[in-house]
Amino acid sequence: MPDIAIVPAPRELVVDDGAWTTADPAVEAVRTVVENLDETEYRIDVTADGARLSAGSEDALRWAETTYRQLLDAAEPAADGQVSVPAVRIADAPRFGWRGIMLDVSRHFLPKDFVLKVVDAVALHRMNVLHLHLTDDQGWRVEIEAYPKLTEVGGWRPESMVGKMSHGQTEFTYDGRRHGGFYTKDDLREIVAYAAERGITIVPEIDLPGHMQAAIAAYPELGNNPDTQLGVRQIWGISDDVLNVNDATVEFVKTVLREVLDIFPGPYIHLGGDECPDVQWRESDAAQKRQAELGLTDASQLQGWFTAQVAEVLIEQNRRLVGWDEMVETDCPKDAVIMAWRSAQRGEVAAKAGHDVVMSPCESVYFDYYQGDPETEPLAIGGFIPLEKVYDFEVVPEGLTEEEQSRIIGTQANVWTEYMEGPDQVGYMLLPRLSAVAERAWGSPKTPYDEFLGRLRPHLKRIEALGLNYRPLD
Ligand code: ACM
Repeated sequence: MPDIAIVPAPRELVVDDGAWTTADPAVEAVRTVVENLDETEYRIDVTADGARLSAGSEDALRWAETTYRQLLDAAEPAADGQVSVPAVRIADAPRFGWRGIMLDVSRHFLPKDFVLKVVDAVALHRMNVLHLHLTDDQGWRVEIEAYPKLTEVGGWRPESMVGKMSHGQTEFTYDGRRHGGFYTKDDLREIVAYAAERGITIVPEIDLPGHMQAAIAAYPELGNNPDTQLGVRQIWGISDDVLNVNDATVEFVKTVLREVLDIFPGPYIHLGGDECPDVQWRESDAAQKRQAELGLTDASQLQGWFTAQVAEVLIEQNRRLVGWDEMVETDCPKDAVIMAWRSAQRGEVAAKAGHDVVMSPCESVYFDYYQGDPETEPLAIGGFIPLEKVYDFEVVPEGLTEEEQSRIIGTQANVWTEYMEGPDQVGYMLLPRLSAVAERAWGSPKTPYDEFLGRLRPHLKRIEALGLNYRPLD
């Protein structure tokens, strides 16, 4: 049996007797887009006479190519400098349309070249979404021409807290080092183009109306206490400083979003919506007046109103709103895609409410959680999600009707970077857990974990070849 290691595993792979012996199988394979396959389907047939890759679309042909390159790693040297490729039949198509990874480039800015390598890793696993969490309390990372201080001021913090933040902590020590950086529009357009060439959509996130302290530090008039000059946040956790709900702030955000939409041509724009405390709205005369004008019974309802106002920019350009699962509770548009993060059960609720849902529950696919013993692992936010737990993840929760199940459009793993300062740390937390989530996103047959490890061991060399760090297998 040849040593075939394809990750994620194709839905159907049959190894036949024999092999194709030839000089350069990568060049000599025949590749065609055909009409008798679905858009997402591809086939690979290797016989003694040659290799044929056929697919229902250019995207599917790209997945065929990625799989074929991995198959070629199993080719063996033959006489006269030729190689023998094992005869196989592969029939494959992804189970889900959204197969994503989220990178938090706010808590720690990550260099463009590293983001490009992550795009390569996403492509290597036949995934198709890279979600960039571009803004948060601790840093604003996207150049906005109308408001240059967002990056000049909001892109930098004088220092970061040291160690693990605990609940209720009020005293901190700091590292005394400046942190920050941002992407120019050209940088982001380069990332978008590089990803597009590999069949990957970049989903930008502007997290609002909470998680906005960096923006408020740059433009205090966006906050609820404009006479207070805030700094970019230097500790982790959730900030009470959220956007105010004034008309001018709505207009400010709409201007920002128009520039963001201009950089990112993809169909989805993420507007956050998570962890938005309403304490300042309760205390603000202006917010209370707005609440009364709108006839809202609770300050928390201002979040839904605010999001709907700024999301008009998305409607104008026919883009689709994506939000964290808190959005379901804020009377958001029915066509919003909900990213379930607090639990799988939140995804179930969103699907039952009629939303399309991306499952990224923190109990299964939060790659900022520990993957081994906290005594010996690098400092992490908490939790415990070893590789095997990711591999065992069941994307579609039980208890949904068939129609509700069809609203689970995919899955995504999230890499929050509070405790990851740079590419090596991110690589260590991301890989190879990414390989495991890719299997679930693709819908690879769930085989015993050891079989997966058997394919993963040689696959690690491919990850290494991309220049990415990863956590060695136990
Ligand atoms: C989140 O983890 N706050 C979406």
